[in-house]
Amino acid sequence: MLSAVYPGSFDPITNGHLDIIKRSAKCFDKLYVAVFDNPSKTPLFSVQERLEMISEECKDLDNVEVVGASGLLVDFARKNGISVLVKGLRAVSDFDYEFKMALMNKKLDPEIETVFMMTSLDYLYLSSSLVKEVAAYGGCVKDLVPPSVEGRLLRKLKEVSAQKEAKQ
Ligand code: PNS
Repeated sequence: MLSAVYPGSFDPITNGHLDIIKRSAKCFDKLYVAVFDNPSKTPLFSVQERLEMISEECKDLDNVEVVGASGLLVDFARKNGISVLVKGLRAVSDFDYEFKMALMNKKLDPEIETVFMMTSLDYLYLSSSLVKEVAAYGGCVKDLVPPSVEGRLLRKLKEVSAQKEAKQ
């Protein structure tokens, strides 16, 4: 059985992530989508909220399991019998960061391979950060994230801005 993991912050999940999940799920017997808590980022959504959004979108994909994770990605892979790390590649700008991580992961565990999946043309420019920025300034993110994520994003941004106003 060939298992893979698609790790990320998914803050929030976008249509670009979903495209990679659906295409990767066809390539492996089992695909874990692992939501990592990245200490270097300040997320908008909690890990629990991100897990709920991804689980909702992946509920019809039988071989996909959505999980929260922390620590090293290779440790997560080893613990779960995973031999492939799936990464999405958009523009050339992703390459430097992803290449370094792939080499470091290879150094940490030479038995685990990183596989890069090219993003579909429609999602070349898409990132969670840009989606959050556009939504925060009132722009339309309808085609960029699933409808339920769009709703949660708009509600969350309202909450955050109400909290900020209350503090002032
Ligand atoms: O969506 P992101 O924020 O680009 O995902 C980054 C992620 C979660 C894939 C990366 O930070 C990661 O692998 N975190 C786990 C910790 C780890 O293994 N760090 C060493 C990577 S070489």
